[in-house]
Amino acid sequence: MTQKLYNPSQKVIEKAHIKDWNKLNESAQADPEQFWTGMADELHWHKKWDKYIDDTNAPFYKFFVGAQTNITYNCLDVHLTTANRNKIAYIWESEQGETKSVSYFALHREVSKFSNVLKSFGVKKGDRVTIYMGRVMEQVIAMLACARIGAVHSVVYGGFSTEALHERIENSQSKVLITCDGSYQRGKVVELKKIANEAADRSGYVDTIICVQRVKNEVEMVAGRDHWYHKLMEMPIASSKCEAEILDAEDPLFMLYTSGTTGKPKAILHTHGGYMVGTYTSLKYVFDIHDEDRYWCAADPGWITGHSYIVYGPLLNGATSMIYEGAPNFPYPDRWWSIVEKYGINILYTAPTAIRGLMRYGDAWPRRHDLSSLRLLGSVGEPINPEAWRWYYETIGNSECPIMDTWWQTETGMFMITPMPSVPLKPGSGTRPFPGILMDILDDDGNPVANGEEGNLVIKNPWPSMMRTIYGDDERYKTQYWSKYPGYYLTGDSAKRDEDGYYWVIGRVDDVIKVSGYRLGTAEIESALVSHPSVAEAAAIGMPHELKGNAIYTYVILVNGVNPTEELKLELTQHVGKEVGPIAKPQSVEFIDSLPKTRSGKIMRRVLKAKALGEDPGNISTLDD
Ligand code: WTA
Repeated sequence: MTQKLYNPSQKVIEKAHIKDWNKLNESAQADPEQFWTGMADELHWHKKWDKYIDDTNAPFYKFFVGAQTNITYNCLDVHLTTANRNKIAYIWESEQGETKSVSYFALHREVSKFSNVLKSFGVKKGDRVTIYMGRVMEQVIAMLACARIGAVHSVVYGGFSTEALHERIENSQSKVLITCDGSYQRGKVVELKKIANEAADRSGYVDTIICVQRVKNEVEMVAGRDHWYHKLMEMPIASSKCEAEILDAEDPLFMLYTSGTTGKPKAILHTHGGYMVGTYTSLKYVFDIHDEDRYWCAADPGWITGHSYIVYGPLLNGATSMIYEGAPNFPYPDRWWSIVEKYGINILYTAPTAIRGLMRYGDAWPRRHDLSSLRLLGSVGEPINPEAWRWYYETIGNSECPIMDTWWQTETGMFMITPMPSVPLKPGSGTRPFPGILMDILDDDGNPVANGEEGNLVIKNPWPSMMRTIYGDDERYKTQYWSKYPGYYLTGDSAKRDEDGYYWVIGRVDDVIKVSGYRLGTAEIESALVSHPSVAEAAAIGMPHELKGNAIYTYVILVNGVNPTEELKLELTQHVGKEVGPIAKPQSVEFIDSLPKTRSGKIMRRVLKAKALGEDPGNISTLDD
């Protein structure tokens, strides 16, 4: 794995907050507490902590014990008394090209107003609120308004469909649902309100829907339950005076559903204090945020990348961020490059799947634009293949912009393996763990593997922005993450380390499939298939795919007497799209007579995958038949 190192230019190093990674790392490894409390000191606390960590009830760790804060105070209020007051917090551009910008002053006002609206519906500290929207400013406002009053937001990605939304509403017991009439994707309207209605109608909890008017399509508004956002914001209840609720550092900030090792999606719970310190620090040092920067994380706020690095991290750093509503190739494949040029974007953070997708249109599209404002690039969500890395580096970054390949998870809250601008790079490696984070790669017996060998990636010490639990399921939190190697957090990824200590993440070792960087579980796809009347049993696996990283392949046993037709395959594909969401649609549906199972009845997806790849299935001694 020895290969060419890409060294940062003098220009990048000169600007970087951290010029000597080794020095920072040494001191942070030696004393994580000193490192993290030093970073926490850069933020405002209504009351400082009595203790950095409480590990008496591990793995239920607590950080900044006894401290009081509210993340939105640091995202908004602190900027009102500095030069940031009139600085642009977000520049927003719609798919059709309309633009809007909002200053820190205006964002503070809009969030305060909407906080009061939520209060008027009886939302209070600890209540869960589901947010199901497109990429609009109001989504950020809604998240911050919840946090401001101590409510716990649960954002459901706008690409999910009825069943996925319904399940998440029920599990979180949200009484309030915030949505849009619709959103634009590739010029077409995604009918969010329609899906929100279907999910709410099935729900035993939702009594209020607040709907942002975005596309002005015709939507059904249920009297007494449904309200227009813009109408509410004009009413006297929407006063712009709303102090941030002073919270305990350990009070929950949000829950975010993600696919776990097995079973249905689980809600990962994050808190105000530790998450704030983690996202603030990691964004500042890795994407090297400076006052004059324009930063663009092109993810969706509906996923963790959006939560940490569109909403909270940038606002904590007083950054100016870009939010673009639509598809990267709409109306032409140079849409992103035109945005970089138009707004003078300095930092661009996206996913390998997007890079591969844009790369295939050729170099002429980016070359038509002046991309010289770019200083740093970023990648997240799945391993980046060297070919895409080089194209991104050479064609987009003009061989001058280091790529921050950030490995992390919904659970970790912040970057865990990542370069910083001054670190020499190897394409496809996220380099080393973040300062203060101790990681290792273990074999099945818990022994560290030799350099160059593959094993299970683990985190050896707790860190402030780690998940606190799975909402409503402490037991599962313990078994899923902390039982394989007691005392160590199990990531679910396999990885290798090379002789320079650089980590190379290979991929998931469990039932999670990363499709275009989106995290899906085999169980979600399988239960969607089984909910179709023609299906008796189903199995889903991920297969390598050039653009998406992985594509979903499914194997279906039909109910007796149902004909295995091509039409039915198509119908099942559509059915999964309707139940879970378009991103979950299988690439292939194959009808079979039986599934490989263990004697205890667990589907052996590994065997299916080996067969599909034409490989040896390995040890099949536990196979039933
Ligand atoms: C994968 C996304 C390789 C990994 C922030 C992890 C990556 C899962 C990288 C978490 C990367 C994320 N290189 N693999 N830079 N970043 N992954 O929760 O398998 O949606 O476990 O968080 O994405 O996905 P999640």
